[in-house]
Order: sequence, then structure tokens, then C-alpha cells
Amino acid sequence: MEYAAKITGTGSAFPQKRVSNTDISQKLAQSGIETSDSWIRERTGIAERRMSTPGNSEEHNSSLGLAAALNALKMAGKTPLDIDQIIYATCTPDTIIPSTACWLQHKLGAVKAWGMDLNAACSGFIYGLSIADQFIRTGQVKTCLVIGAEVLSSIINWEDRSSCILFGDGAGAAIVERTQETSAHRILSTHLLSDGNLWEMLHVPAGGSAQPVTPEMILQNLNKIHMNGREIFKVAVRTLSSFAVKALKKNQMTVDMLDWFVPHQANIRIIEAVAKRLNLPMEKVLVNVDRYGNTSSATVPSMLDEAVRDGRIQKGQTVLLDAFGAGLTYGAVLMRW
Ligand code: ACO
Repeated sequence: MEYAAKITGTGSAFPQKRVSNTDISQKLAQSGIETSDSWIRERTGIAERRMSTPGNSEEHNSSLGLAAALNALKMAGKTPLDIDQIIYATCTPDTIIPSTACWLQHKLGAVKAWGMDLNAACSGFIYGLSIADQFIRTGQVKTCLVIGAEVLSSIINWEDRSSCILFGDGAGAAIVERTQETSAHRILSTHLLSDGNLWEMLHVPAGGSAQPVTPEMILQNLNKIHMNGREIFKVAVRTLSSFAVKALKKNQMTVDMLDWFVPHQANIRIIEAVAKRLNLPMEKVLVNVDRYGNTSSATVPSMLDEAVRDGRIQKGQTVLLDAFGAGLTYGAVLMRW
């Protein structure tokens, strides 16, 4: 018997604290750095984002992941003991060792599962979904929990006004289950690529084994995000568009057959430029970057969860997930809901 995979439950969770653009401009003003609510809104579409409160264990990465996972399990009608596999996409793990997947497993009591972390930055959830799809299609796994969760506030460089305005914290989750290959509701295809040659566009120089952190490095913000926003912008528009076309072509579909496009939420101008290139009306594009900013691997699953819960995404509709991230990494998943 041939298998396929489908998403049967979604969930999301965000920290309590809302950080407005005005909050950020006031914070930066203390260091003599200028920005404004109007600049941030016009250039990014972001109005506010959520940030974990340091020291609050309820808002650790794995705790946000736990809340999202519990929501997704409830929607799928499953318990933690039904989970065979946990794929935890994050670039801001609770700890280097053990994996955040293991922290989550501990908190969730998913004792029958094996879990691992996956770092593909903002493409992480799509990479995770692709891996789940493979394990399920080969018959090795029946039920997989895929999480995309970040506490990016832990690596924001508050001395760089072009990047500190973009990021937020949050988590999204999906329960992915085995179905028949002939099922109408399933993942249709997955598409992944990375380009390590572009590593410099977004990186955290210190904190890994290549450059363990020293007090001097902390003073220079080398343990924080370094980004070339203008260049990423161009690559993002190009690759999000080309991956959307690739996924549609693979399934002999055209853009007008898409019901919903769920792009990585980095900047409204990137999203609008991609929609324009694809000739896709913005009414079919799901957007929440205004409320949460860029939560990296959490943007796609949390946006998906929001649209499933408010009834925009309906059974039988065609949904395209599409992301790019540090690495650089790219990925798309086309599915029939
Ligand atoms: N407030 C006021 N002025 C600012 C700010 C700010 N927050 N940030 C930059 N500026 C200034 C710049 O200094 C520059 O001034 P200058 O002309 O005097 O030199 C001017 O605004 C224009 O700067 P640009 O970099 O050209 O601005 P741009 O319109 O490209 O917007 C931004 C910058 C928002 C970073 C945009 O390039 C972007 O969103 N890029 C994509 C970034 C991204 O998606 N990163 C996430 C990658 S995914 C992941 O894995 C996490």
C-alpha cells in the first residue's frame, strides 16, 4: 500500500508582551538611534510583534512550542502518546544540548516519539514538513508533530536599526498523519534548496563552536543577528516566486488554481512583490506580519493555524506554503487541505 501525508491539526502560541514600533523607537532613542513607527510600517508593514519576557519559563521556546502542540493535538483529536516523531524547527533553541525537541517531549509526555531539532532558519517549518512527509510516505511513521518556534528576541542586535525592527517570538505546530496516496486531502509535493554561498546575508557570527562567545564579542554584538536586508529582499522576491512556480508546475497547476498562498512573513513589501510577480490577487495571500513581525520558522505554521481556525482555509482547497531564510534556505509545500 502506498501512503501520503496530510495535516490534521494546527496550533500556535505567542508570548504575552506586545512590542509596538513606538516601544522600539523609544528603546533605540536611549542609544541615540533613530527610527519611527511610520518608517517601520511603510518599509515593512509591521505594526507590532510579541516578545518573550526573559526569565519567564512559560515563554521559553519549548514552552511556546508546547502550547502550539497542545492546540494542534486537540484539533487532530490525538494525544501526546499518538506521536511517533517530533521535528522541531528552530534557530533559537532553548539549549544547544539537549535539543528543543527533547525539551518539548519532556514537557508534553510524548514518550513514544523520537525527536530532533532542525535549523533551516525561516524555512524550517517547510523543511520539517517535507521530512515528515518522507517518513510517513515510506511507512516508518504514522503521526508526526512538526513545530516551528523561535525566541528571536534572544539574538536581536539592538544596535542595528535595520534588523531589530523586524523580528518577534512565537510558535506554530502541525500534526501530520498517514493517509492513502489516493486521498484528495494530502501533501502534493515538497521542494527544498539551500545556498550556503549566501551565508553572509544573515548570520550570527559568534556563539557556535567556530567562535565561542567571549565578553569582547558580546560587547561587539557578535552573538546577535547580522543582516544585509537589501540583498535578502531581492533574493527573497526571486526565490519565493520561483519556488511557487516550481511547486505548481510539478502538479500541472496554474496560479489561478491556488486558493491560498502562505508566504514567509518577513516584510509586506516582499509578499506584495511576489504576489505581483505571480499575478496572484492579494485576497488569496495570507498575511499577519503586521501583528507578529518575522518569527522565522514560526511564521508559516502560525499563519496557517490562524486561517484554519477562522475558517478561511476550507477542506478541499489548494494551499501553497513558501519560505526563504538564513543559510540561505528556500522551500515550498503544495497541499490539498
Ligand atoms: N528606521 C529608520 N531608517 C532606517 C531604518 C529604521 N529602522 N533601518 C534602515 N534605515 C535607513 C537606512 O540607514 C537607509 O538610510 P540611508 O539611505 O541614509 O543609507 C535607508 O533607511 C534605506 O535603507 P534600506 O536598507 O535601503 O531600506 P529598505 O527599504 O531595504 O528596508 C529592510 C530595510 C526593512 C531591512 C528591508 O530591506 C527588508 O525587509 N529586507 C529583508 C530582510 C529579511 O527578510 N530578513 C529576514 C530574513 S529571513 C531569516 O532567516 C530570519
